[in-house]
Amino acid sequence: MNLVRSVTVLGSTGSIGVSTLDLLAHARDGGEAEVDVVALTAGRNVARLAEQALAWRPQTAVIEDESLLPELRDRLKGSGVQTAAGKTAVAEAADMNASWVMSSIVGAAGLAPTLTAAKRGSLVALANKESLVCAGPALLDMAKKAGGTVVPVDSEHSAIFQSLQENWKSAVSRLILTASGGPFRTWERQSMSAATPEQAVAHPNWSMGAKISVDSASMMNKALEMIEAAYLFSMPPEQIDVLVHPQSIVHSLVEYADGSTMAQLGPPDMRAPIAYALAWPGRIAWPAPKLDLAAIGALTFEHPDLARFPAIRLAREALRIGGGAPAAMNAANEVAVAAFLGRRIGFLDIASMVEQVLEALDASGDLKPHGGDVIEGAFAIDALARRTASEHIDRTRH
Ligand SMILES: NC(=O)c1ccc[n+]([C@@H]2O[C@H](COP(=O)([O-])OP(=O)(O)OC[C@H]3O[C@@H](n4cnc5c(N)ncnc54)[C@H](OP(=O)(O)O)[C@@H]3O)[C@@H](O)[C@H]2O)c1
Repeated sequence: MNLVRSVTVLGSTGSIGVSTLDLLAHARDGGEAEVDVVALTAGRNVARLAEQALAWRPQTAVIEDESLLPELRDRLKGSGVQTAAGKTAVAEAADMNASWVMSSIVGAAGLAPTLTAAKRGSLVALANKESLVCAGPALLDMAKKAGGTVVPVDSEHSAIFQSLQENWKSAVSRLILTASGGPFRTWERQSMSAATPEQAVAHPNWSMGAKISVDSASMMNKALEMIEAAYLFSMPPEQIDVLVHPQSIVHSLVEYADGSTMAQLGPPDMRAPIAYALAWPGRIAWPAPKLDLAAIGALTFEHPDLARFPAIRLAREALRIGGGAPAAMNAANEVAVAAFLGRRIGFLDIASMVEQVLEALDASGDLKPHGGDVIEGAFAIDALARRTASEHIDRTRH
């Protein structure tokens, strides 16, 4: 055993959080890693958090919803695990002495704790793409100044990270993100307009939380990932492309100027990029599902249909506008997805709502960078875009 990790999992009760703890158990039980869990955090799922805390005995377990603290205390009585609640407590958990922090809270709620972990120099295994989209350059800069590292967990960015060679910067001509195309890949626009939340979350290849599943169906997930890639790899938007690849086996590709293209392949299982981030810069063995390419037979690729999936165009637009546009796009999308899941708007309204918010805030000049604190600026634009999106939703419903 040569891998020793003190670990905090932010968002331990979610899809990525559960996969992370599963992988850590494999690594520990297989003698690949010595794992000490420092903190686990959740939003509202107090039963699962308590169960995880009893299994892993972290120093602290934190629930964001303060009304659930008495229940968490009760469930962990006599265990020796400290308990806390609230937004600040989640950020404090990210500031504890873990060398490896999984950032897997969903949405912009992950921004503050992810920044905290980056600032203290921990290795941040980054699943929470929204924090990169809202404040990418500041986040990466903070991690660098603190001597830490951000290792992407999104399968596409992990694939690119793994396919980049030494001194790649001037040698890369294109980053190509693959997309499954989601459950509506072959649907007509008219059917998409009547799609239900149940149909949108039924992803063909990946098992994920509800928000990212809807993002996959609208391809807003790919749009957020384009912005994520632009920041992570300092790539101009015109050198970032998307290819639809329904089998989700090729997780992304790097095209080099000499005509070579490097790709990373694997079964669609998020524990693989999590394992890579855990062992980085090395690799660990775990009972990973392996590829059987002969059984799969054919890998296919197609261009995304930008008329049915306008989110890709919106990502390019947000990168072009710059300033607060990516954070506004993300916030408007979060509000629109919640409204769709609550059956208050239709599926196609999600992208058009995001577009309207971007247009309105661009026209009012609110997306321009304003010299002050970058993080405060990101929170301010996030709040403004949420308000604007909610107003648009209320207007369309009356
Ligand atoms: N799932 C995937 O395959 C996948 C792949 C690539 C990237 N990602 C990214 O990874 C992140 C997590 O995705 P997921 O699918 O794991 O989401 P998820 O299943 O919805 O889990 C989200 C986690 O965040 C917690 N949470 C929610 N709201 C919170 C708040 N306001 N404050 C603190 N914690 C909160 C949840 O707690 P409760 O359980 O208590 O609600 C849960 O632990 C997202 O940014 C997503 O885009 C996911």
